[in-house]
Amino acid sequence: MHPYPLSPQNLIETISGWIRGPAIPDLSGKVAVVSGFNSGIGYHTTKALLEHGAEVIGIARSDDRGHEAVAQLKEQVPGAKISLKLCNMELLSEVRGLAKELLAMPANISLLINNAGRFLDQGFSVTKEGIEHTLALDYFGHAYLTLLLLEKMLSNGPGRIINVCSQAEMFGSLDWSDMKGVSRQSSGMPAYGRAKLSLLLFTFELQRRLRLTGAQVEAFAVHPGLVNSRLFDKMSFRYPFALFTYTMSAIMGLTTQQGALSSIYAATHPELSGKGGRYIGPSYTFNAFCCYPRKPLNPRAADVDAWRRLWDETYAVIEDVTGQQVPRTLPPVGTRV
Ligand SMILES: NC(=O)c1ccc[n+]([C@@H]2O[C@H](COP(=O)([O-])OP(=O)(O)OC[C@H]3O[C@@H](n4cnc5c(N)ncnc54)[C@H](OP(=O)(O)O)[C@@H]3O)[C@@H](O)[C@H]2O)c1
Repeated sequence: MHPYPLSPQNLIETISGWIRGPAIPDLSGKVAVVSGFNSGIGYHTTKALLEHGAEVIGIARSDDRGHEAVAQLKEQVPGAKISLKLCNMELLSEVRGLAKELLAMPANISLLINNAGRFLDQGFSVTKEGIEHTLALDYFGHAYLTLLLLEKMLSNGPGRIINVCSQAEMFGSLDWSDMKGVSRQSSGMPAYGRAKLSLLLFTFELQRRLRLTGAQVEAFAVHPGLVNSRLFDKMSFRYPFALFTYTMSAIMGLTTQQGALSSIYAATHPELSGKGGRYIGPSYTFNAFCCYPRKPLNPRAADVDAWRRLWDETYAVIEDVTGQQVPRTLPPVGTRV
């Protein structure tokens, strides 16, 4: 059964959330890192954080697009404290370099928004580090950055890690025999669904470990809804689903500003304190924001053994690819949720 069926209660919550939007508290003194900040959902998330006083370190893969976005944000938000770091997030070696720079900065990081992503933009292909491209960016790059920054974030008191997932998690499945996603050569929706399902499960396991160690940092997964962003302009129409998504987003997609509401709410709203592990997003039925936690659409997301196994296998892949040990900041935990 659909987890959020058409009902008067769902309708009322959706409309009220839509009208209210998330009330954003003062974020002065907070430092946020946002990947894919130069466009779409990442841009508007960054803008909202800046407008409420946070300092933002924006991560982009392109020097030109990164500088252009910084200039635009400074123009739109007078006094904005924004700086740029360049990183191709699909390469773990570059993520490691980025983390090194971030760890060397005196500023503490209290918000990490793992937002950059790609969707149906090319056929099956593998990064020079040997990981399928979508899985490399939408999952491994962000998981690695999180694991490298965790200790610094934990030493700083309260904080939040926001992983931008997608309802496409429903199309995902895990394959323990092919963690790098290369043997089956899957691309398109199976690859995207797998990457986003992995990020969702990683968030749940991260939060489970954070909670059981009493940390003040909390992890949330969000899905932004169907958003009419540049993501779809980069699609390859070799995939029939690309045409469908393109058409649907043009007809009923949220604006990028509306699409950022889930991330902004999860990153900042005080009512979520102590509620890490929530999956936040618009109503599935109405594709409109409401402050209501969602259930994953994929039944595999409830499998705690899979969370734990994915965590271990992720360490194994990253260590294999980089030849470097990944910090074990959070100890293993049992099967308790
Ligand atoms: N739009 C939707 O309907 C929708 C639905 C569900 C989930 N999402 C998720 O929302 C997130 C934001 O997407 P969006 O819709 O705002 O699309 P977008 O406008 O295309 O933004 C994606 C961002 O990721 C960056 N990026 C792409 N590849 C990168 C790489 N290798 N290294 C570093 N950065 C890279 C892009 O940089 P460039 O500008 O250089 O390309 C861009 O800044 C993604 O994770 C996406 O999967 C979107």
